[in-house]
Amino acid sequence: VSEISFEGQAAVVTGAGRGLGRAYALELAARGAAVVVNDIDRSAADAVVAEIAGQGGSAAAASDSVVEPEGGAAIVQLALDRFGRVDVVVSNAAAWRNSDFGEQTPDLLDPVLDVHVRGAFNVLRPAWLAMQEQGYGRIVLTSSSAGSFGRTTGANYCTAKAGLLGLGRALALEGAEHGILANCILPIADTSAGRPPRAGSEEHLARVKALFAGLGEERVRPEQVAPLVVLLASVACPVSGEAFSACGGRYARLVVGLSEGWTNPSDDPAAVEDVLAHFGEIESLAGELFLPRSVDAEFEQVARALAARRD
Ligand SMILES: NC(=O)c1ccc[n+]([C@@H]2O[C@H](COP(=O)([O-])OP(=O)(O)OC[C@H]3O[C@@H](n4cnc5c(N)ncnc54)[C@H](O)[C@@H]3O)[C@@H](O)[C@H]2O)c1
Repeated sequence: VSEISFEGQAAVVTGAGRGLGRAYALELAARGAAVVVNDIDRSAADAVVAEIAGQGGSAAAASDSVVEPEGGAAIVQLALDRFGRVDVVVSNAAAWRNSDFGEQTPDLLDPVLDVHVRGAFNVLRPAWLAMQEQGYGRIVLTSSSAGSFGRTTGANYCTAKAGLLGLGRALALEGAEHGILANCILPIADTSAGRPPRAGSEEHLARVKALFAGLGEERVRPEQVAPLVVLLASVACPVSGEAFSACGGRYARLVVGLSEGWTNPSDDPAAVEDVLAHFGEIESLAGELFLPRSVDAEFEQVARALAARRD
């Protein structure tokens, strides 16, 4: 395998002052990318920029918030002004407001949707325009296992993270003709060092801490996630519209698919009792598994099933 290089390329990593984003920024820079290190924590962003410079790399700090459209535009503009292009965006910034669902009043929903969903939009839209123009781009969106598999005390977070899977699919479809590839990452790493524990989910956090301990300290470092993110950000990225989990040095594909299901033989709507009678077929994974890569692809599957009924 030839070495994967980012020489001559510029990358934006949001929320890169610490944790996973910092690990991505360092690895991208070590491989030759000029990196915009974004974080609302200015001193954290500056420290990562200094670390990159200390290793002979090129980086610039942006402390704008991704929550504001103006912030997203400023972050991308910094890459264009300083480095002349933007080839990669890793949307990674994060906020949490943990609590049981019954306590998730709108004031606990908005800040989470703002950073994860609006934040991704606000940075990716201006970057997209530059990528379209240059006919090349790589987008990595940060989803979470929580958004696909669920967790307690984070309904707001799970909602936001599932939303990013949809955004990744949409950008992959629209990006194809422009040389833009978009994928999602479901990272797991212990990023708790040096910051106070997040409020509102003590039980969940204790469970996660025990799970981390079970895998071992070395295995849950952010550096174990970075290789997959950096591959997805590179010219060698082999896929678009997909999502991958990285946990403890295990890298795996998230599958969003459909069972073969049951197709009502009649053109009249099925009765509720018919659906119940065929529920075993509907939920069974024994038949063919379909992995549609667009809504159109699902329509084609249904059309094939209907044609088979008529044969
Ligand atoms: N750590 C995990 O196990 C895990 C699991 C699943 C998903 N993730 C996701 O991975 C990403 C990184 O997680 P982490 O654990 O490294 O988080 P972290 O809290 O260590 O880092 C997030 C950074 O984002 C910055 N930030 C917050 N709001 C911002 C804003 N408005 N604009 C710019 N920057 C902002 C913070 O200052 C912080 O430095 C997040 O999207 C998170 O949801 C992490």
